[in-house]
Amino acid sequence: MIFVHKGHGWVETMYGQIPFEYGDYIVIPRGTIYKIHFLTTQNRLLYIESFSPIEIPGRYRNQYGQMLEHAPFCERDFKLPKDLETHDEHGDFLVKIKKQGMIYPYVYATHPFDLVGWDGNHYPWAMSIFDFEPITGRVHLPPPIHQQFEAAGFVVCSFVPRLYDYHPKSIPAPYHHSNIDSDEILYYVDGDFMSRNNIQKGQLTLHPGGIPHGPHPGAIERSIGKTSTEELAVMIDPFKPMKITEVAMNMEVEDYYKSWLEAEIPVLA
Ligand SMILES: [Fe+2]
Repeated sequence: MIFVHKGHGWVETMYGQIPFEYGDYIVIPRGTIYKIHFLTTQNRLLYIESFSPIEIPGRYRNQYGQMLEHAPFCERDFKLPKDLETHDEHGDFLVKIKKQGMIYPYVYATHPFDLVGWDGNHYPWAMSIFDFEPITGRVHLPPPIHQQFEAAGFVVCSFVPRLYDYHPKSIPAPYHHSNIDSDEILYYVDGDFMSRNNIQKGQLTLHPGGIPHGPHPGAIERSIGKTSTEELAVMIDPFKPMKITEVAMNMEVEDYYKSWLEAEIPVLA
């Protein structure tokens, strides 16, 4: 799945084209041959690769598979491939196949987009974060209300602009907590993230499961009396501990943890 933070264009696939823009989640199931075309030069994508299918949470659907009315999105929000173009061509067509972390170059003798039509239930599709209708309450509701996707090993949640809790004595910032079932990865897209200080757009934070965390110093007090938030963020909660790559280690903001010490709030660059 690709989350489009910056840029627009279209994904060309063997099933047709999916135009994409800022805020789209593009779900590309295994086996789909695709090519991304940008109409912009400043692009930023968040890639989420999964060994299991990335699906709509089962609790949003009825026994027939239809979206239930309390779900935060519906069938109308799904963007399906359209305008299938058939390329009936012979030549050398390089297709890069990713398998178990390795990329294998395959040269096809016929154009991979030579389908004249298709049928079935395995195809790429997209849905915008902006079509996610937030669920709000009188008192603080837990993270599953933000859930947009699920897979066997993780969930993906969307934090979108929304009204805050409307109980007269509510404190809109979340309480401090410890995730016992998952790590918590947040990708900051836009707006001011209400529970964190000094977080920049495009930054990722990782809060490992089992370790208590919560709003930055001052964030709770700051939230009192506020009625809404403009925050936009993607949260990925893996059920098994995150393994961090060397590349990621090299871009770590090393004193991030210190940003919870009231005396010492560093500016995260
Ligand atoms: Fe959390």
